[in-house]
Amino acid sequence: MAIQWYPGHMHSTRKAIAERLPEIDVVIELLDARLPGSSANPLLAELTAGKPALKLLNKQDLADPALTTLWLAHLQARPGTQALALDASEAAPAQRLIAACRALVPGRGGMVKPVRVMICGIPNVGKSTLINSLMGQRSAKTGDEPGITKTEQRIALASDFLLFDTPGMLWPRIVVPEGGENLAASGGIGRNAYDDVEVAMALLARVRPRYGDRLALRYKLRDTAALPDEDLLAAVGRQRGGLLPGGRVNLQKAAELAIHDFRNGAWGRITLETPGEFAQWQAAGQAADALRQAAKPPRKGPRKGRGAATAPLPDAADGKAGDDEAGDGEAGDGEAGAG
Ligand code: G4P
Repeated sequence: MAIQWYPGHMHSTRKAIAERLPEIDVVIELLDARLPGSSANPLLAELTAGKPALKLLNKQDLADPALTTLWLAHLQARPGTQALALDASEAAPAQRLIAACRALVPGRGGMVKPVRVMICGIPNVGKSTLINSLMGQRSAKTGDEPGITKTEQRIALASDFLLFDTPGMLWPRIVVPEGGENLAASGGIGRNAYDDVEVAMALLARVRPRYGDRLALRYKLRDTAALPDEDLLAAVGRQRGGLLPGGRVNLQKAAELAIHDFRNGAWGRITLETPGEFAQWQAAGQAADALRQAAKPPRKGPRKGRGAATAPLPDAADGKAGDDEAGDGEAGDGEAGAG
């Protein structure tokens, strides 16, 4: 399955991050704890290579605690990287966040050299919720300043600790197909960019080996291992009222119900990928992407207009349209890319 997705506004976001970056000490990336590999943005990794990094695994309340521990250890093993898990129920996340950042840049702090951090994350990962919670604590929004775009917030979390919100939206560029499926299942990409039935079947297939017993319990099934993916989806429809007149299963409805149940934690705490699994998908996805790039005919001159907004570019099916050169397309409302 190719997720149809055009990351809009990527060019302006990349530019804004690159401009802010020289004065940033630590880059915080908010990840979805259920899919820490798939919810990471490869563009951010490229842009911020070498900067101290804090990875926040958000929505840990929905993720498998054992796999969250595994991911934290995996991320922390990277040079210059700290990792924390959190969720929206944490009343005062600022202290842990500040301490982790300070540990990364021990030479900074105090009024002369305040710690300056930037927070980034793909849509729906919980950034607004976290920022609201941080602002609800003793922090104060310092407001717009000349040179800081209107959409960029600067929050003083301590007298010598400034948090900058990423200007612009950090849409994910999808190179890893399994990552695209996981993002779609979690709500990280716009609805019109994927097919619910395909995403639900991929989701059930991914969840079944580790959490088949939960599916069996939820949908009153005896043996999920023996069911083909489509039959499993049909069973979800039958149990949850996704039926057409005459009793046939409405697969579209069943898919929406399955995705809804996953997103809302009705299957319990689930993580869709381990570090090892994601590394394998990534290696295969990157190899396939490199082959596609190599096979592209050389571009003959500058592109005209803002085509990514309205018309799929030839390479749109693999999620690349609008990423680089055409990245200012209007598609950045998160709902673009139907195809
Ligand atoms: P964004 O700015 O990164 O786009 O994300 P936002 O904060 O808007 O959060 C996206 C959704 O994720 C919201 O749900 C929010 O409540 C939920 N969320 C954020 N953090 C957590 C968390 O730690 N745990 C859980 N379980 N959910 C979290 P929504 O359904 O879009 O809105 P609503 O239910 O809050 O009205």
